[in-house]
Amino acid sequence: MNILLLGSGGREHALAWRIAQSAQCGQLFIAPGNPGMTELGTCLPEIKVNDFAAIEALVRREQIELLVVGPEDPLVNGIVDHFRAIGDFKELPIVGPDASGARLEGSKDFSKAFMQRHNIPTAAYRSFRVGQTDEAIAFLHTLRAPYVLKADGLAAGKGVIIAETLAEAESELREMLAGRFGAASACVVIEEFLSGIECSVFVTSDGKDYRILPVAKDYKRIGEGDTGLNTGGMGSVSPVVFADDTFMAKVEERVVSRTLAGLRAEGIDYRGFIFVGLMNVAGEPYVIEYNCRMGDPETESVMLRLSGDFVELLMRMATASLGDYQIQIDPRVATTVVLVSRGYPGSYEKGFEITLPELSNECLIFHAGTVITAEGKLVTNGGRVLTASCYGDNIEQALERCYALADEISFEGKTLRRDIGADLLELM
Ligand code: AMP
Ligand code: GLY
Repeated sequence: MNILLLGSGGREHALAWRIAQSAQCGQLFIAPGNPGMTELGTCLPEIKVNDFAAIEALVRREQIELLVVGPEDPLVNGIVDHFRAIGDFKELPIVGPDASGARLEGSKDFSKAFMQRHNIPTAAYRSFRVGQTDEAIAFLHTLRAPYVLKADGLAAGKGVIIAETLAEAESELREMLAGRFGAASACVVIEEFLSGIECSVFVTSDGKDYRILPVAKDYKRIGEGDTGLNTGGMGSVSPVVFADDTFMAKVEERVVSRTLAGLRAEGIDYRGFIFVGLMNVAGEPYVIEYNCRMGDPETESVMLRLSGDFVELLMRMATASLGDYQIQIDPRVATTVVLVSRGYPGSYEKGFEITLPELSNECLIFHAGTVITAEGKLVTNGGRVLTASCYGDNIEQALERCYALADEISFEGKTLRRDIGADLLELM
């Protein structure tokens, strides 16, 4: 079958890598794609993920039979609703929720209220809108430091502020309600701070049934020891040692099944991935956030661990037929180290030539911010440039391979964290 994948990051490169291995994959198109994906399918760099008219024309022209949406933006903007409103495409299999389901990520106010309605464990909270600054500040005074403030809408991963003091929280709150993140912070969620260790649980839903994919942990801060600014992600590890059977039984019962039942009860036919960001607070799972897509850079590790026919899984998700599908998991560990540009997540230069080594069987390189110049050179083109993703018999071996590979990749300003997985090794 002909498949169209939307997106251009490391996540989509990893998804494309798995899709292209399926015997069911006919032609694979990726819009816009990136240079790493050109060997897996046809990239269409001129088609952007929010250009629904161009995407629709492509679906018609190439007789696409399965559409897979990588990033959250087009989902929140209603790409699924766009296709459902067109007679010919009412039944087009799409992996990704419609706008009502994508609100799990698109509105923190909605997702917190949803969790409350369905008795899903999460931090206590209240939401405040423009005009309610005094009430919001009064509420802050009832909490203890640190203070967690979240812009309601999408803010490119920057909408969460953790303030150490009341004074800082008040000033951040005023700025947010005054439009610091535009419309996204016209409503602000203030919530209780949860202390624990995080992990990412990925659920595939077909609207009726679900399966849980391998659990991963990502590393968001730029600096070693989880210091410095938040980034789009500096590395990931799967599996996660503390997400053992006991913890996952709680996650499944208290979080996953209640989430899916809640979606059904609210009439939301959710066909896609649900990424549950969890905090393990002394062995008890609490939901930090939902996303309506896979995580990046978790996907780069999770795809290594998912064996079996991936297109079969995607098609079953999109057509409400997960039924008896069995997820097959590679028993090995997979780890990912992200190579970023010097200066990221602040300002950085682009256009540095990249040299890539030969790959061993245990390792892959996924592209994120790269581009081919008019002269045919591969150069850096973003903050997150590439990932080194490797298998191992254990975390140490997988990481050793990632770092050996990362050392062989060269570009001016190459920056990485050397402590991916270190916290998990300490727990072992
Ligand atoms: P989010 O964008 O919602 O994933 O939040 C970004 C990061 O902020 C999360 O990955 C957590 O590390 C942190 N965070 C969010 N909410 C809380 C909370 N209630 N308590 C502690 N940390 C939090
Ligand atoms: N790794 C976190 C995210 O994709 O949002």
